[in-house]
Amino acid sequence: MKAFEFRNPTRLIFGKGQLELLKREVPKYGKRILLVYGGGSIKRSGLYDQVIGLLRESDAEVTELAGVEPNPRLSTVHKGVEMCKDNHIDLILAVGGGSVLDCVKAIAVGAKYDGDMWDFVERKAVPQDALPFGTVLTMAATGSEMNSGSVITNEATQEKMGWSSPLTFPAFSILDPTFTFTLPKDQTVYGMVDMMTHVLEHYFHLDTNTHVQLGWCEAVLRTVIETAPQLVEDLENYELREAIMYCGTMALNGFLSMGLTGDWATHNIEHAVSAVYDIPHGGGLAIIFPNWMKYNLHVKPERFKRLAVNVFNVNPTGKSDEQVAEEGIQALRDFWSSIGAPSRLADYDIGDKDIELMADKAMRFGPFGGFNKLQREDVVAIYKASL
Ligand code: NZQ
Ligand code: ZN
Repeated sequence: MKAFEFRNPTRLIFGKGQLELLKREVPKYGKRILLVYGGGSIKRSGLYDQVIGLLRESDAEVTELAGVEPNPRLSTVHKGVEMCKDNHIDLILAVGGGSVLDCVKAIAVGAKYDGDMWDFVERKAVPQDALPFGTVLTMAATGSEMNSGSVITNEATQEKMGWSSPLTFPAFSILDPTFTFTLPKDQTVYGMVDMMTHVLEHYFHLDTNTHVQLGWCEAVLRTVIETAPQLVEDLENYELREAIMYCGTMALNGFLSMGLTGDWATHNIEHAVSAVYDIPHGGGLAIIFPNWMKYNLHVKPERFKRLAVNVFNVNPTGKSDEQVAEEGIQALRDFWSSIGAPSRLADYDIGDKDIELMADKAMRFGPFGGFNKLQREDVVAIYKASL
């Protein structure tokens, strides 16, 4: 293991009926609240009315920013920053999926900065202060509810990039699995692909003596694999939604990655696709990740074999490590296809026209990947294999 320091300050509030605790949490931070949400799902589900009701009971003064886009945009962040400054906001409350949460993280640091928040994404400046924020999660996918990461799209430059700061952990996050009942099947699938990919990005590392971390990763993957086929047929099943919501948070809150450096190349490669084509993140990952696996199998075939045997029940008897590994990759492809995830860029009508452009965007900060450092030609090869 690498030497590490672990700190996750988010108060995680999980389970049915926990929304009531907004009345305990919100007043800790003040009265002036900026409520941020997406394109309307929380109005249709009734969650908006519940949240507003509880905020009123807390005597909060509420300003609203509605319409955060999936793949949240910098222009929306700017709107939120102005609202915070104009209204002397004490606490931001994000109600929605990863996009709403990520947008709120950007607003939180932007509200305490005189320049453009995009400076932080471009690594031109480092956040020194942030407004506190809480979240009510409506979609299990990103882990943003218990991590400090955020991904923002600059629509003017067609860039989509991740950034993080120790100041952008949510102060509290309320996760009631019933709030995910209304999430449609396709988004439910994208969320499950995303959380599995987060686990896999940790799983492929070169650090040694990480037996517990590998075992935890496998437990989360097996749980998603067992749960997903039932959930896509039974979207309002509490226990299934509960299991998936817990997996989504655990996949990317730092627990699985103590003492190791994961890979994250696939995320970078996918972000460049959704920067240019605005496709759902989980859909892009389902296409790219198996091709990343095939391309990097040679780095450490025994890790791929371990995944195949321990997670996909591939029988290794009489086979080489590479054969077992290949069967595992195929099993992952088959699993994602079976629950309705896309498998080729063509599924989103993406051809080879913009491969060079996407590779340029992916290479923005130079070669990348903790398991295997990828150069530009490697990225192009993975895009080509994904067509
Ligand atoms: O906007 P509304 O109307 O709320 O609809 C959303 C949106 O259209 C809908 N939705 C969410 N909860 C719902 C619901 N519809 C009905 N019922 C519900 N309960 O689902 C659609 C997608 O929502 P979005 O928030 O975009 O999805 P997700 O949670 O997958 O977030 C994706 C964004 O997160 C970034 C991605 O790149 C992408 O921009 N990521 C953030 C990470 C992080 N902060 O750590 C890590 C991830 O790897 C990822 O890159
Ligand atoms: Zn992701």
